[in-house]
Amino acid sequence: MTNTTQHPTRVVVIGTGAVGATTAYTLFLRERVSELVLIDANHEKALGEALDMNHGLPFAGGVKLWAGDYSDCKDADIIVIAAGSNQRPGETRIDLLKRNAAIFDDIISNIVKYNDHGIILVATNPVDILSYVSLKKSGFPANRVIGSGTLLDSARFRYLIGQNKKINPRSIHAHIVGEHGDSELPLWSLANVAGIDLEISEEDKEDIFNRTKNAAYEIINAKGSTSYAIALALDRIIVSILQDEGSVLNVSTLLKDYNGVSDVYLGVPCIVDRSGVREVLDIELNEEELERFQASAHKLKEQIASLEL
Ligand code: LAC
Repeated sequence: MTNTTQHPTRVVVIGTGAVGATTAYTLFLRERVSELVLIDANHEKALGEALDMNHGLPFAGGVKLWAGDYSDCKDADIIVIAAGSNQRPGETRIDLLKRNAAIFDDIISNIVKYNDHGIILVATNPVDILSYVSLKKSGFPANRVIGSGTLLDSARFRYLIGQNKKINPRSIHAHIVGEHGDSELPLWSLANVAGIDLEISEEDKEDIFNRTKNAAYEIINAKGSTSYAIALALDRIIVSILQDEGSVLNVSTLLKDYNGVSDVYLGVPCIVDRSGVREVLDIELNEEELERFQASAHKLKEQIASLEL
């Protein structure tokens, strides 16, 4: 991928667990950046991941990659936060809040020590709340603090609709919005293929959405964590930023008077470019969708209030 920015692009990945390491490897394989820095509280782990990837350089491409420290955030265009605990079987994403919010104080204060111009991209769960925490603690403008949001959920939704209709998921436009979690909701009223409404039975719709919403639990029970699709979703967001694409992506962003919701991060369709979230797209929700969207916002705002930020 050609570098359209005027300087070597640098992405820093904080947290080299399953999501962070797979995201780094995805960016490395696809040569998305000039420089890729891995940071982990366990520096040995970051060193090992960097060494293992660098040994593949003769087969891969020209990314300069190293295990670093927070001073490497200085010249970062994007800082991905994938550090923290991930769900154990049976745990919800919200169950991770106290544990993961506790480490964000340290992470964000270290980032802002060196960087006041980059974009913070949060993947750690509960991602919507931790994106809000990152906004408050970093002092960055909201357009430069982004959560992976329901981009992954929308991808799962499109995949499952594609399976049902035997259509390539890239040709299916469908949104999951709200919390990246149990209160997310499907926008069946907007789902389409080439602008044509989808003919799907109510029974199949319910099955498709339930499998979308519960996908992470299914994968965690099977292999312990999710990693590949979230890494590809983060890669999609990073490319839209670095290439100034202006793609519409269901990332988590700060909402202001949006369908009656304010001062909370939720996944909604956003235009993502070099500035981060350039614009939040208005969506027409039917009565049921509006009620569920506002309920999702209320659930997260209650959790935010419990943090006493
Ligand atoms: C998932 C994690 C990233 O949904 O929350 O796979």
